[in-house]
Amino acid sequence: MTSDKPLVSERFPRSAKYHPEWVLASVSGAANALWLSEWLAAALDLRPGMRVLDLGCGRAASSIFLRREFGAQVWATDLWFSASENMQRIRDAGVEDGVFPIHADARSLPFAAEFFDAIVCIDCFPYYGTDDLYLNYLARFVKPGIKALEADGGRFLGYVRVVGRRHDRVKLADHIVSLPAQYTKKPLLRSHQ
Ligand SMILES: C[S@@+](CC[C@H](N)C(=O)[O-])C[C@H]1O[C@@H](n2cnc3c(N)ncnc32)[C@H](O)[C@@H]1O
Repeated sequence: MTSDKPLVSERFPRSAKYHPEWVLASVSGAANALWLSEWLAAALDLRPGMRVLDLGCGRAASSIFLRREFGAQVWATDLWFSASENMQRIRDAGVEDGVFPIHADARSLPFAAEFFDAIVCIDCFPYYGTDDLYLNYLARFVKPGIKALEADGGRFLGYVRVVGRRHDRVKLADHIVSLPAQYTKKPLLRSHQ
């Protein structure tokens, strides 16, 4: 990331199109939801029209991104953030035909079995996936043939050990000390594309 172009990384060209003010106004946790979504999507075969459950979507930035970038239909589902606020964000982003905000607890989901082609959990699985049997519960909502769990083999779905070192040449971005409490409309893209 370069300091003259905030939130731009060569590694995430799709995310780079989005306006930094919009990204920051859509923050729901500590991570950049667009970067994580782009990274995850590279390992998935998302195609237009696929039904995707974005579970623990927060302010639905990832849901909007998956709709805009891959044409998926996304059920933007979250417990703590308002589905009505997310509806405003979704509408302003012009994707209300394909992103559906749902207020629900991940442990009690209001969906039919095998409804989804894919389920994504961006920076949130440890919040609700704590029960030994949770993955088994969640798997019922996805159509058979998703090989992610088998391929993972326990490597990523679990706890990870991370060691970080601060490089002296890297200028740190401003620390986010608070999340916006109310929805404010921001430009979605850096420029019209
Ligand atoms: C760190 S935030 C990440 C939000 C978003 N995915 C992102 O990357 O910006 C964790 C999210 O998990 C959601 N969450 C926590 N417990 C949940 C539950 N039981 N059911 C649904 N969502 C839950 C919270 O509402 C919150 O939005």
